[in-house]
Amino acid sequence: MVEFSELTVDAPERLQLAQWYHAEWGQDAGLSLEQELQRLNRAQDAEGFPHLIAAFDGGQVVGAVQLKRREMQAFPQYEHWLGSVFVADSHRGRGLAGTLVEQAAAQAARMGVSDLYLQTEALDGGLYARLGWTPLQEADNRSDRVLVMVRRISA
Ligand SMILES: CC(C)(COP(=O)(O)OP(=O)(O)OC[C@H]1O[C@@H](n2cnc3c(N)ncnc32)[C@H](O)[C@@H]1OP(=O)(O)O)[C@@H](O)C(=O)NCCC(=O)NCCS
Repeated sequence: MVEFSELTVDAPERLQLAQWYHAEWGQDAGLSLEQELQRLNRAQDAEGFPHLIAAFDGGQVVGAVQLKRREMQAFPQYEHWLGSVFVADSHRGRGLAGTLVEQAAAQAARMGVSDLYLQTEALDGGLYARLGWTPLQEADNRSDRVLVMVRRISA
C-alpha cells in the first residue's frame, strides 16, 4: 500500500528525489546534481513553503509533489504553486500522480492557501484537467510551452 508523508529536510530519500528531478528537468536547465539537491533542500519559510510530500511503497520512495511559492517569475501575482510532480517508472500508470496532487491540495487547504497554481507541458491539462484544475493561459518556460492552471482551494 502506498503511503504519503512530508519529507523532512534530513530525510535520506531526498537524494533519490534530486536524482529523479535532475534527470527529468535540472540537467536540461544546466544544474549539477549537487545544485539540484541544494534547490530541493531550500529552507522552509515561516509558513512552511516549500512543502515536500513523498509517496512510499514498502519503505521505498516512489513519488513526490511539492507546494512552493512563486514558481514562475513571469507570474509574480500567483503566490502558491503545486509542482515537481514525479512518479517512479515502476509505479506509473495507476493513478499515483493524481493521488499525490490530491494530497498536496489537501495540505494546501490546511496551510490556508486560497488559489493554487501549476504549470504543465500537457497543453490540454492532462491529469489536472480531470482533477478540477482550470486552464488560465499558455506561457513559455525556458524552451517549453506550458499551460498555467489554477484550482480554488478555499474561500
Ligand atoms: C507525469 C507523471 C507524474 C504521471 O504519473 P502517473 O502516476 O503515471 O499518473 P496517473 O496514473 O495519476 O495519471 C496518468 C495520466 O497523466 C497524464 N500525464 C502525463 N504527463 C502529464 C503531464 N506532464 N501533465 C499532466 N498530465 C500528464 C497522462 O496523459 C495520463 O492520462 P490518462 O490517464 O488520460 O492516460 C509521471 O509520468 C512522471 O513522473 N513523469 C516525469 C515527470 C513529469 O513529467 N511530471 C509532470 C509535471 S507537470
